[in-house]
Formats: sequence, C-alpha cells, structure tokens
Amino acid sequence: MTTIKNIAVLTSGGDSPGMNAAIRAVVRTGIFNGLNVYGVRHGYHGLINDHITEMKSHHVSNIIQRGGTILKTARSMEFKTEAGMEAAWQNLKKHDINALFVIGGDGSFRGAMALSSKYPISCIGLPGTIDNDIWGTDETIGFDTAMNTVIDAVDKIRDTASSHNRMFLIEVMGRDAGFIAMNCGIAGGAEAVLIPEIKNDHLTLFKTLEEGHAHKKSSNIILVSEGDQAGGAFKFAEKYKDKLKNYDVRISILGHIQRGGSPSAFDRFLASRLGVAAVEAALDGQTNVMAGYKNSKVVLVPLEKAVKTRKKMDKELLHVLDVLNT
Ligand code: F6P
Repeated sequence: MTTIKNIAVLTSGGDSPGMNAAIRAVVRTGIFNGLNVYGVRHGYHGLINDHITEMKSHHVSNIIQRGGTILKTARSMEFKTEAGMEAAWQNLKKHDINALFVIGGDGSFRGAMALSSKYPISCIGLPGTIDNDIWGTDETIGFDTAMNTVIDAVDKIRDTASSHNRMFLIEVMGRDAGFIAMNCGIAGGAEAVLIPEIKNDHLTLFKTLEEGHAHKKSSNIILVSEGDQAGGAFKFAEKYKDKLKNYDVRISILGHIQRGGSPSAFDRFLASRLGVAAVEAALDGQTNVMAGYKNSKVVLVPLEKAVKTRKKMDKELLHVLDVLNT
C-alpha cells in the first residue's frame, strides 16, 4: 500500500452549489493530516495541462458560502483518449501525487476509474451534481440548493399562473433523471410531473387535468424534466397541442439558474462531511470508492457500483403527488 503524502482535488462536469465547501473540506482535512494538497484547475483538462498548484488552508478561506467552483470545471474529451490520460498521469507523477479526489457526477467518476485502473493512483469520488442521479448516496452535493432555487421560481410562477388562469409547463434540469422535477413537483404543489423515468406519464397528466377541471381548478403547474419522454417542455407542448388546446399554456425554462447561487445549509454540511470522510478513506488505504450519504450517515461505496447502477425513483413519491392532487 502506497503511503499517501501528496493529494490533489479537482471538480469536473457540471458545477453544483457546495463544490467549494467540498474543496475546502478536502484541502483542510489533508492539511490536518500532514499531507501536501494540490488543486487542479479546470478538471481533467487541467490534469493534462498541468494546471496543478499547491493549496494551503488560506486558499479555501471564505469559500464555503460561494456557488460555482473556485477550481473551475470542464468536460474533457481529451482525457478519454490514451494520450490525454497518459499526459495527465505524467503530471500527477511529476508532483508525486498519490491520491486524487474527484468532485463531480458519473462521467467524472468514469474518468477517475479509468485513470486508477491504468496507473498507480488512488481515486476517491465525491458526488457533486444538481441532478441527484448518483447511486449510493441519498443526496448529491448541490441538489438541495437547486431544489430551493426551483421552488422559489415555482412560487413566483404560481402567482401569475393563478392570476391569468393559465397552465405553466416549467422545465427543470435533469437530462437523464427526474429527481429535481419530482421532488420540486411535490414541494411546489404541482399538478403533475413529466420525467424520464416514467413512460406514458402524459396519460396520467391528462387524467389529472380532467379531474382538476371537474373540481374547477383554474390554473395548473406542471414540472417537466428536460430529459422527459417527449424531450422537454416545448416538445411536449407541440406533441400534445390538440390535447392542450383548451388551456392557455405558457412555458418557462429555468435553465442554468438552477446551477448557481450560494449553497444551502444542507449542501455545505453534506459537502463538509463527505470531504472529511473522503480524505480519511484514502489515508485508510481505500481507492475507487465514493463517499456517499445514506440515512444521515456517511458511507463508502465502490465507484464502479455508483457508476453502473441506476438510481431508482421511489414509487412512493408518485403516490404522494397523486394523493395531493385530489
Ligand atoms: O449534469 C448536470 C446538468 O446540470 C444537467 O442537469 C444538464 O442537462 C447539464 O448539466 C447541462 O450541461 P451544460 O451546462 O454543459 O449545458
């Protein structure tokens, strides 16, 4: 087992609120344990191009409350090539880095696994994505803040929807997963959600709308994942325009505002706990694991399992939505 002396941290893929709190936790836990800590700017692109600098405790002062990532992030295609990965390894070797902490989503974890399968480096993942689509953790860093942002928007849209008796299709992020739409649908009192995980969810929607009409509901809020079966709110409205012709429909795409903003208390708390656990796991000789959060406890799960297993949507949530639409 290699003794860990030098560690590096990077953020990769889409940024999420709380990534800075996670960077801070990794850096300070490393220093607490007598390690030299390096920050890699611009994700895997920075590994390839040696954007690697030492980080001291003061470099992470005053960032716990900041959205985005001070290390910047990127989606690197070059890292997927043999030459790109070799260049990244040469830079890690040059700085004698023994463990790499990757804060990101499943694509970023795949990169970490590929690196550690080829070269002698420990890789530890921290789940950072607003989508909450990582198996092995109840929440990902950034999901809670994104939900709060969405709910703030839904509440505002509800005011105008009800004033004009309109139906709003509110599109939220989630290319492959409907966790933001589902949770915010419940928390925002939506009539229905349209998400990638549920086939034929338009049928449920039209049934709900009919029932609502019978109950004299005058306005409707529908949360649509960008990756729903129809391919987002505009495509949905176009596909089912005949069915929607009696409604005054408006569409709001919330977009990247969901990725920004100061992290919620929960995201800071989660990121801090996972950062400490991740560094301690590496010191304990663990590699290819992700620090996750299950039933309010930090857990370590194999990165491979986190990447290969699809996180399931809890059926109880659909039931809750359905019951509360009565
Ligand atoms: O993976 C997080 C995410 O925010 C998705 O929900 C969204 O589809 C995607 O990133 C957008 O990526 P980009 O900012 O590269 O357009």
